[in-house]
Amino acid sequence: MELKKDIVGLGLESSCDETSASVVLNGKRILSNIIKSQIDLHREYFGVVPEIASRAHLEVINKIIKIALREAGVKFSGLKYVAATARPGLVGSLLIALQSAKAVSYSLRIPLIAVNHLEAHLYAPFLEGIEPVYPFMGLLVSGGNTNLYIVRGIGDMELLGRTADDAAGEAFDKVAKYLNLGYPGGPIIEKLASQSKTKKKLFPKILADSTDFRFSYSGLKTAVVNYIKKNPNADKAGIVYSFQERALEILARKVYKAARQYNIKDIVIAGGVAANGRLRVMLHEAKAEDERLIIPSPVLCTDNAAMVAGIACKYFYADITDDLNVDAQPRV
Ligand code: KG4
Repeated sequence: MELKKDIVGLGLESSCDETSASVVLNGKRILSNIIKSQIDLHREYFGVVPEIASRAHLEVINKIIKIALREAGVKFSGLKYVAATARPGLVGSLLIALQSAKAVSYSLRIPLIAVNHLEAHLYAPFLEGIEPVYPFMGLLVSGGNTNLYIVRGIGDMELLGRTADDAAGEAFDKVAKYLNLGYPGGPIIEKLASQSKTKKKLFPKILADSTDFRFSYSGLKTAVVNYIKKNPNADKAGIVYSFQERALEILARKVYKAARQYNIKDIVIAGGVAANGRLRVMLHEAKAEDERLIIPSPVLCTDNAAMVAGIACKYFYADITDDLNVDAQPRV
C-alpha cells in the first residue's frame, strides 16, 4: 500500500485584531501557531479601530510568517499550500493576510485557499485530536458573530439562527465599557462576576418564550444600562454576574434545543466567548448523556491561523483551491 504523503500547509489570519501565521501538518497537527494580538492598540478606544488594525497587521505579517516557519522547522519550499481568511471580517484587515498568501502562492507556485473564518472556527477541535461527526451542531460566539449552524460537511453549513442585533462578545464589551471596566470586556466581566457575593437575577431571560434559534443582546444591554442609571451605587460584581448569567443562558438553551430537535449528538462551541469558564460549566450541566460537547482549548477558541491552515487542508485534499484574483469579503 502506498503511504499518503505528508501535507504541510501555511495558514494566515488577519480578519480582526489578531495577526497570526501557522504551519499545520495534514490538517491535524499544529507545528506552529504564532498569534500577535493588537489589544493594546485598541484598548483606549474600547473596540477595534479598523485603520489601526490594518496598519498593524501590515507591519508584522512578514515577521510572523518567518517565526511560524522557523518554529515549525519548515522552509517555504516545504509548503504544499497556503491559506488565508478571506471572509468575513474588516476588509482592510482581511486584505493583509490574503494578499500575503497570494504572494506566497504565486512565488512558490502552490495552491491558494481562501478560507471562511466562521467555518475555520468550527474546525478547531480537529486540531486537538477530536473529530466531530457530521452533521454536527456548531455554535460560533465571538465579538462579531453569534451564529448557530448545522455543519454537514466541508463548505456545507446550514445557518439555523443568528443574533438579531449585537453579538454575544460585543455585549460583554459594551457592558464593560459602560461600567468602565476595560477592554476586551469578556474576560474582565467573567473574573468580576466570579467575585460577586450576591447571585441575584437582576435581568430577565433573553427571548424567554421564543421557539426559534434567534439570539438577541440589545435588550439585555439596555436593561443593564437602565439598572445602573437607577442604581448608580449598585455593586458592579453583582451587576455583571447577573448580566453574564443571562447572556450565556440563552446560548446553552438554544444550542441544546437545536441539537435535540435535529437529533444531532456532537456539539461544537467556538469563538472568543467559548473561552468563558461559566459558559463551559452551564453547557456541561445541560448536556444529556448521549450528547458530546466539544469546546476547543481557549487559544483555539479565539482568532488563530491554525484553524485556517487546518480547514484549508480539507479543501486541498478535495482539490478545491482559489484563483489569485479571489477577493476579500467583509460579509458572507
Ligand atoms: O473570536 P474572537 O477572539 O474575535 C472575534 O470577535 O472575531 O472573540 C473576541 C470576543 C470579544 O468580544 C471578547 O470580549 C470575547 O470574545 N471574549 C469573552 C471571553 N474571552 C473573550 N467573552 C466572554 N467571556 C470570556 N472569557
